[in-house]
Amino acid sequence: MAEDLADDGTAAGAPDDAAPAPLPEHAWTEDPDYVRVYDVENAGGWDHDFYAELIGELVGVSVDGGAWSGGPAETVAAGAPHVADIGCGTGVLGLRLAAAGIRVTGVDPSRAMIDAAEARTAGSGLDEQVTWHHGFADRLPTASADVVLMEGHVAQYFLERSAWDEVLAHAHRALVPGGALTFESRNPDGLELDVWDEEHTRETQEHPDGGTFDSWIELVRVVGEQDVAGEQAECADDDGPLVTHRGHMVLPDGRHVTTEETLRFRPLEVLRDSLEQAGFVIEQLWGDWDREELDTDSPEIIVLARKP
Ligand SMILES: C[S@@+](CC[C@H](N)C(=O)[O-])C[C@H]1O[C@@H](n2cnc3c(N)ncnc32)[C@H](O)[C@@H]1O
Repeated sequence: MAEDLADDGTAAGAPDDAAPAPLPEHAWTEDPDYVRVYDVENAGGWDHDFYAELIGELVGVSVDGGAWSGGPAETVAAGAPHVADIGCGTGVLGLRLAAAGIRVTGVDPSRAMIDAAEARTAGSGLDEQVTWHHGFADRLPTASADVVLMEGHVAQYFLERSAWDEVLAHAHRALVPGGALTFESRNPDGLELDVWDEEHTRETQEHPDGGTFDSWIELVRVVGEQDVAGEQAECADDDGPLVTHRGHMVLPDGRHVTTEETLRFRPLEVLRDSLEQAGFVIEQLWGDWDREELDTDSPEIIVLARKP
């Protein structure tokens, strides 16, 4: 099931198809060339396994062990457990959860990503269990989800503090009392921005339509407390660094396409404050996908928080 973006004027703009490649700036999530290879580049490894196991524990389901066979009283009363996936992308993890008997509602403002999720759902036999909304977290039903998930560093896409506070408020609203919010955000103190260049990130991979493609990223700018050049950085606010990088791809037909993206890397103190302000209680913090304890220079800040 797919539902469209609310007519709220906030729809992601369509890319300028007429512009010659390389395109200077547009959202990769709306670019068919990028969305086509998304699942190759983000095959879902440790992070998907981590969330599949964690969500299984939270709702009493063995996610890779077949159909749902019961769960905690709260979720039984509401039928199958329900997971809301904010920034669900192409739906890979959502469908993995659905295959274990979990109901999944995904929201994503990218039409191209939702189309890919819908295409993946078709013929899976899971279409009654998943709902993909083309839109934002305000589309999630109230007091309905046992777990709200934001994975694939979706948290970093909320650049302004007001947008971050708003998505946390919707996550809180969407959860049943006692429900859990889980997400990850890269730890700004663990960022190794000096390797965000072609030399360290260039890869050649199989293109889903045949042939191979090359991809790499380059750092464009950092605004905030971490300046790769070691210079005094402009500090827009105290919400953590804003990092802009450019992605490059050379496609099998030789086209070189690029896209620029800015992400927010909030430090733990900011995440902690914002979660508490939104009414969550932090239950667990991990620093990596093997459930390693969070340390000052851990690569990730992985959060499990509860709505009391
Ligand atoms: C890196 S992808 C992750 C997709 C998916 N969760 C995964 O792990 O494969 C980030 C996603 O966040 C979505 N996104 C960006 N801004 C968003 C917003 N304001 N609300 C919800 N999702 C958003 C993008 O459209 C994109 O699909």
